[in-house]
Amino acid sequence: MVEFPPPPAAWAQLLDTPEAALRALIGSVSDRLLLLDLDLQIRFANRGIFEVQRTALPGRSIEDFLPASEHERVIGVYRRVRQERTPAVYEFRQLVRGETRWFEHRIGPVIEHGSVVAFAVACGEITARRRGEEALRVLEREITEIANREQRRIGNDLHDGLGQELTGIALMLTSLVGRLHKEHHAAAADAEEIVGLVNGAIDSTRALARGLSPVSIERGGLSFAMRSLATRASDMYGVRVCFHSKIWPQLTLEASACTHLYRIAQEAVTNAVRHGHASEVLIDLRVDGERVVLSVADNGRGFIPGAVPASGMGLRIMQYRANMLGGSVSFEPRTEGGVRMVCLSHQPALGEPGRGN
Ligand SMILES: Nc1ncnc2c1ncn2[C@@H]1O[C@H](COP(=O)(O)OP(=O)(O)OP(=O)(O)O)[C@@H](O)[C@H]1O
Ligand SMILES: [Mg+2]
Repeated sequence: MVEFPPPPAAWAQLLDTPEAALRALIGSVSDRLLLLDLDLQIRFANRGIFEVQRTALPGRSIEDFLPASEHERVIGVYRRVRQERTPAVYEFRQLVRGETRWFEHRIGPVIEHGSVVAFAVACGEITARRRGEEALRVLEREITEIANREQRRIGNDLHDGLGQELTGIALMLTSLVGRLHKEHHAAAADAEEIVGLVNGAIDSTRALARGLSPVSIERGGLSFAMRSLATRASDMYGVRVCFHSKIWPQLTLEASACTHLYRIAQEAVTNAVRHGHASEVLIDLRVDGERVVLSVADNGRGFIPGAVPASGMGLRIMQYRANMLGGSVSFEPRTEGGVRMVCLSHQPALGEPGRGN
């Protein structure tokens, strides 16, 4: 272990009058550190900003270094820091020599005798972080899309391939059973049993196909899929699951987006029954022009979203799917008990690309 010598006398002096040390610290950080007065004019800067030298900054407004479109929002942030006396952060995008770059300003109130007298601002560039996040989002979206597409393909192949073949076999067997009966053949009963088994296999194939590719245009799209989900959940869990929809003028979401909505509803219904022990669940799908609202309300025991065990995946995946739709998911307690999940998202306007279901 390294033994540090005791602080020399110079240390005590430095800590008593720390200006020189602070100046050295401020000069060494790569962030721009600014002191602004209450009119948002720069009074001190540790470095220059863009082309403007450090010494030329005092007297300039912070707004000179922000895109005009951000002024109103940023002034609002400073107002809030002053009123609430708490730090705040804002991020913005700016075109610098033809290149889009991202910046972050962290604002802290400077408080003297109980009043805010200035703002301390640390300005840093976050372009690399933003690009990394964006690349990650694109990658996540692509992986999910590929997985969804692949699931749909397997589902469709099962439905149209194996399902059709089994149906053909069942028809052939049925006619064979007819002939065997006509000839009073001893094997007629066995053959009939085999028809029953093949029909069972057809049902299993259909169920598998539906699970892998729940939303299909041929089968009536999202409304049909959600109605089937409600019926199946009612049968499976022995609770009342209803589906209402009001779609005006029509759904323009692509099949993959519909699958996200379907899966969100499916998880919400499962959670309502499994955790909420609800006896009634209502799935509601409303489309009004470009606005899509999916809600799932239950009459179970409800929950507080921030206070649930982190081990579950369902809520996180719901959130993720809503993000993929450019939307959001929230949970609100119902006055009559239980919880309502609301997923808000958008769909392309009629005639825009992206229609498909
Ligand atoms: N409708 C609901 N009513 C009551 N509690 C709920 C409801 N939805 C979610 N919860 C609570 O939120 C927790 C997290 O749900 P989430 O779906 O993320 O995980 P899970 O259902 O436990 O596991 P998984 O979905 O991964 O199988 C649940 O364990 C439950 O405590
Ligand atoms: Mg769950």
